Amino acid sequence: MSSQLKVALVVASVREQRFGPVVAGWVREQLEAHGGFEVDVLDLVDVHVPVTLDGSGDTEALRARIGAADAFVVVTPEYNHGYPGYLKIVVDTVLEEWAGKALGFVSYGGSAGGSRSVEQLRQVFTELQVHTIRRQVVFSGVWDRFDDEGRLVEGARYEGAAKSMFDQLVWWAAALREARRTPVVA
Ligand SMILES: Cc1cc2nc3c(=O)[nH]c(=O)nc-3n(C[C@H](O)[C@H](O)[C@H](O)COP(=O)(O)O)c2cc1C
Repeated sequence: MSSQLKVALVVASVREQRFGPVVAGWVREQLEAHGGFEVDVLDLVDVHVPVTLDGSGDTEALRARIGAADAFVVVTPEYNHGYPGYLKIVVDTVLEEWAGKALGFVSYGGSAGGSRSVEQLRQVFTELQVHTIRRQVVFSGVWDRFDDEGRLVEGARYEGAAKSMFDQLVWWAAALREARRTPVVA
């Protein structure tokens, strides 16, 4: 199979005055520059699924978009040493459409740059049979990393980190796309 891999870029922060779109905008540029993927931006602020997990709202559309992806990049902040609550609702809404795919992280926050959030998410995605990529991009003190126009200040350092992560993501996503010719064992 040689068609381009599809990646869903998940923007996990949905709060008022969120910084997430600035980080996600840069990640999107990097993904497009990398050239290994066709990108679908899945901004969770535009996704409306119920906390009751009853299948209403955008549930079917969300499942279709996750199901269409070969890989994921989750852009996540850290709130009180954890990941955003609404992201968990979205993850639990979808279930089997995640399985047998690869996922990388870009995190941001204060001194730890969202790393604690990512460590927790690795556990969650393992339960869903998602392979999480070892390399990640971490923005500590994120407010100082971007200028007022949303441009990255020390671009080269982070561009290298993003490329490394995307290279691993392509390898795993391609291998797993091939493997999914046989249904993922539940
Ligand atoms: C409720 C709340 C809790 C936070 N807790 C942490 C934290 O534990 N660690 C950290 O590094 N930053 C923490 N922050 C700072 C966030 O990482 C920072 O505000 C970031 O911009 C949040 O992403 P967002 O603006 O896209 O929502 C917290 C922010 C909020 C609003």
